[in-house]
Order: sequence, then C-alpha cells, then structure tokens
Amino acid sequence: MAERHNKTEDDITAEVIARFSATPDPRLRQIMLSLVNHLHAFVKEVGLTEAEWFQAIGILTEAGRMCSDKRQEFILFSDTLGVSMVVDLIDHRKPDGATESTVFGPFHRLGAPEMPAGGNIAHRDTTGMPALVSGRVLDLDGRPIAGAVLDVWQAQTNGLYDSQDQNPEALHMRGKFHTDSAGRFLVRTVRPVHYPIPADGPVGQMLKATGRHPWRPAHIHFVVSAEGYEPVTTHIFDRGDPYLESDAVFAVKDSLICDFVRHDSAEGEAARLGVAPPFCTARFDFVLAPASAAAGSGALDAQRRLAALGSSG
Ligand code: BEZ
Ligand code: FE
Repeated sequence: MAERHNKTEDDITAEVIARFSATPDPRLRQIMLSLVNHLHAFVKEVGLTEAEWFQAIGILTEAGRMCSDKRQEFILFSDTLGVSMVVDLIDHRKPDGATESTVFGPFHRLGAPEMPAGGNIAHRDTTGMPALVSGRVLDLDGRPIAGAVLDVWQAQTNGLYDSQDQNPEALHMRGKFHTDSAGRFLVRTVRPVHYPIPADGPVGQMLKATGRHPWRPAHIHFVVSAEGYEPVTTHIFDRGDPYLESDAVFAVKDSLICDFVRHDSAEGEAARLGVAPPFCTARFDFVLAPASAAAGSGALDAQRRLAALGSSG
C-alpha cells in the first residue's frame, strides 16, 4: 500500500488543474489553467488568511451591489489595477505613426447628438474656460480622411460626467462630429479639468488604504472611426495638468498630450463662432491604421462594449 501523506496546497492545485484539463474549447482551457495556476500561486505566495479571503469576498460583493447602468465598479477595479491598460495594449496594437489608444472608461453613452463643425458640446457648462479643439483625421501616409466620425465625451467643469450629475438622463458634454473633405474637425467645448474617479465604493477604499489618490488628469475622450480603418478609442490630455504623472488609471501616453493655449483676444475661428476671450485652443491630428482582418473578429465597438455590460447606454 502506498504511503499516505497529508494533502498539500500543491496537491489541490494539481487536482484543480487536472479537472479543467478536459475543457473542450482550447482558448477557454488555456485561460482557465493559467488563471488557476496564477491564482493559487498568489494565494500561496502571500499566505492568504481566511479573514483576508472573507474580506476580499466582501469587497467583490459590495462591488457587484454598486453596479448599475450608471456605475461599473468592476471596470474601475480593472482600471485602477492597471489591467484595462494592459488589455488595451495587447488587443489594440497600432503600427508606428497611428494614434495610440487608451482606456474607454465607464462614462461613454450611446446617442450623443450629431454636431456640425464648431458645434458646442458644453452648452450648459457656464463656468469653464471656452475651448476650441481642432485637427485632422489622417491615414498613415498623412492623407486626410473625409467623413471620419469623432464620438467625443468629456467631464463638466464641476468634475462630473452628465450621468453623475443632478439630471442624469440628460446628455451633456457629448457629440458626434464628422470630418470635412480635408479631414478637418472642430469641436467647441470647455477646457477639460482634472477630476476624481468615483471613490465612494470599494475602489475608493482600496485607493485610500494604499495611499493612492483618485485623480485623473484633464482629458477629452474620443472614439475616431472611418470606413476601411481601425477605430481608435483614446483621449487627448492637457499638458498643463499636475496629474499627468500619476493618473489613477495609468492611461497617459506621451503621444496623447496636447497643448491647450490660452488666448486673451478674439481671433480666427473663435471670432467667427462668437467665442469671447479668454478662451483656449488645442490642435490634435488623429492617425488611423487601415482595418485589418484580425480587428473585425475580436474588437469591440462602443455599442458592443456597453451591451457586454448589459447597458443600453
Ligand atoms: C474616464 O476617464 O472617464 C474614466 C476612466 C477610467 C475610470 C474612471 C473614469
Ligand atoms: Fe474621463
């Protein structure tokens, strides 16, 4: 008879791995085996106690309780742990020269109004510094892309997105713009401000307990798309912001930092649009890569991302 020995942690890991080894779908098998390996290794490495394990279950339960069509605490966990940015880098590799992507975040909404060039997305924001954001959408050879769509969204000057504010159903600080025949776009808005990510739940507790702040540097969100090109989900960041080096969700990339230039007298487009000084301007060109066959299979557009979360936007 074989000598008996008490079951070890590694025996359990091996047993769980064996149980998942017959998973028919090869990708699911790869993911489950790796997940179990890493999860067990983590628990063993830190010597997780039962009290800590219960605390983790409590945190996840609370995160689930907080989720609604207006709040996604699990995306916030993913963002603040840097996982969203790693997934974004792996799944949206861009050729050199194409605009880099960054986090989608939880505040996109479907149904942003169509806007003409120069349309004002910040019509209810009376305290912000007016801003004109212009540029072009180009291909990798620098040729303009006409008819590209820019889905734009931004936090208000009070640091809240429309869905977090008093009248959460009303759309504000959102618009869909189209490029003209020279690939140009023009968005009228207010200068973006830095704002804290929602910190009144488990993610906020994690940030506090680990000595981290919840601030995101000032930015404007864009999804830029055009027929025959890979869409890019990205932001432009204000170079003057103090949180560029410590974004709570690790989303800053050097190539996305942009100058917001202050003007104290009416001139150019601003005068034509009736934007009174002081105001600021920012210029940014988006460069799209050609659509690849691979992108069609797994890439999620905004609609599919929201549908995956069970939200209608
Ligand atoms: C945002 O920029 O809207 C955002 C991104 C990640 C987490 C929270 C907010
Ligand atoms: Fe944002």
